[in-house]
Amino acid sequence: MSAVLSTHGLVARYGDFQALYGVDAEVAAGEAVALIGANGAGKSTFLRAIMGLLPVASEMVRLNGAPVGGTAPERMVAQGVAIVPEGRRLFTGMSVEDNLRVAMDQAARVGAKGGWTLERLHQLFPILKEKARIPVQSLSGGQQQMVAIGRALLCQPKVLLCDEISLGLAPKVIREIYAALPEIRAQGTAIVVVEQDVGLAKSATDRLYCMLEGRVTLTGRSAEITREQIGEAYFGAGHAVV
Ligand SMILES: Nc1ncnc2c1ncn2[C@@H]1O[C@H](COP(=O)(O)OP(=O)(O)O)[C@@H](O)[C@H]1O
Ligand SMILES: [Mg+2]
Repeated sequence: MSAVLSTHGLVARYGDFQALYGVDAEVAAGEAVALIGANGAGKSTFLRAIMGLLPVASEMVRLNGAPVGGTAPERMVAQGVAIVPEGRRLFTGMSVEDNLRVAMDQAARVGAKGGWTLERLHQLFPILKEKARIPVQSLSGGQQQMVAIGRALLCQPKVLLCDEISLGLAPKVIREIYAALPEIRAQGTAIVVVEQDVGLAKSATDRLYCMLEGRVTLTGRSAEITREQIGEAYFGAGHAVV
């Protein structure tokens, strides 16, 4: 597999606290991988470390083989990595379209090029056209998540990092959001999803990584990994699988 993004012994700390202990992972163009694991396992930290939001050594993160660890987030965006952060972090008080325009302006400013336009985004999530003039805070959680994904796509990513995009949403809305992933992948974009719902993580991705206390405890093809393997990797060997 030729990785578009890879990590090599990725280590990350918050002050004295070590949150990642040498994580090796990779994703290929057009591939979707899931990152699962209990609360506090280090999933968000892993995405933040890739994005340049935490200090890491340059050789610990590679984009198309080139070392990029510790590169500032804006430069990571310019090089084709975008994140849908935990909690969405939209610009409240601004309309749906203005939120999206911020991303388009940012992409233009840093010279990120790609095929995502407002029109294409409206095809992917028609509600964003309907609600274009509405302040984002008036939208439902699922609609806000679509704005957050749209904002990341308009940065023209080659790698899309998604942190718990299904959290707190109704099953029907989750299905709508996950239904967009194949279309995004069809553009050659690689996707990394942090997902608490193991069934969803398995069905929506090619491969998965399970993390426990800052380490990868299991990786393999999503369709082949069993519930028992996941249970053990999730809680550590010796814990009862429920
Ligand atoms: N800003 C922070 N400062 C200190 N510790 C943090 C910070 N953010 C996360 N941590 C700690 O790092 C570990 C991994 O957290 P996180 O990556 O958020 O886990 P996950 O996303 O898998 O729930 C946890 O022990 C958490 O308490
Ligand atoms: Mg998290």
